Amino acid sequence: MPESTILHPLPPDLDAQRLPAHVAVIMDGNGRWAQERGLPRILGHQRGVETLKNLLRYCRDWGIGALTAYAFSTENWGRPRVEVEFLMALFEAVLRRELAEMIAEQVRIRFVGDLQSLPATLQGEIQRAMLATQDHDGIQFTVATNYGGRQEIVRACREIAVRVQSGELAPDAIDEELFARHLYTAESGDPDLLIRTSGEMRVSNFLLWQIAYTEIYVTETLWPDFGPEEFHRALLNYQERQRRFGRLRSSS
Ligand code: IPE
Ligand code: IPE
Ligand code: MG
Repeated sequence: MPESTILHPLPPDLDAQRLPAHVAVIMDGNGRWAQERGLPRILGHQRGVETLKNLLRYCRDWGIGALTAYAFSTENWGRPRVEVEFLMALFEAVLRRELAEMIAEQVRIRFVGDLQSLPATLQGEIQRAMLATQDHDGIQFTVATNYGGRQEIVRACREIAVRVQSGELAPDAIDEELFARHLYTAESGDPDLLIRTSGEMRVSNFLLWQIAYTEIYVTETLWPDFGPEEFHRALLNYQERQRRFGRLRSSS
């Protein structure tokens, strides 16, 4: 039986009513995972893809509606050229290889970030995957590629400025809701839980606007080792939190 058809039941100690609707992940530590084993960094990225595939499946099986993964930041261009080129080729190969299965599983895949600066062949695969899955009603899977939170905010400002300049929009009409509609996440909304692997206590330019009230979970585990037990632990930890949104009591 193919792995994709096995349905993993929700662990009984998790409350199905209080799961995060949207989980975001900063998939960090691939390079260290490989280096610890005396392997080239790129093998860590390859293993990282398997981790992400598995996590997507667990999210789906456990009833989490949206998963957003940080695959490549606007700052990651500053890495050695061979690593950047390997990553671009990897994204393309994975998309080509996995699309049929994602279609079969009703996954709705979206890419966010400055996609125009990606290699043309990768852009082609991205468009093909987004078009082929746009009407799906399964899990919403968003991949942030050449994504930067500051770039996203500046881009939104530009779009809004153009509307104001044309007379279509009055400056007074700009509020948080309108602003959020100009972000890449207009459809998926803000994450409830942000997980970062490999122990780094920073957000590295990810979803700056959207994480205003997101619960943050950092684990020392390196991304290629972030399996279902780790995810389970993160969700248990999330369910112990009281989300107050600035008020005195938790609203959930
Ligand atoms: C995250 O792993 C993947 C990307 C940023 C593309 P890293 O490549 O950052 O791994 P470390 O942090 O160097 O171990
Ligand atoms: C964040 O990881 C970006 C991605 C996971 C794609 P980095 O490894 O690039 O972040 P820093 O350099 O530790 O802040
Ligand atoms: Mg890193």
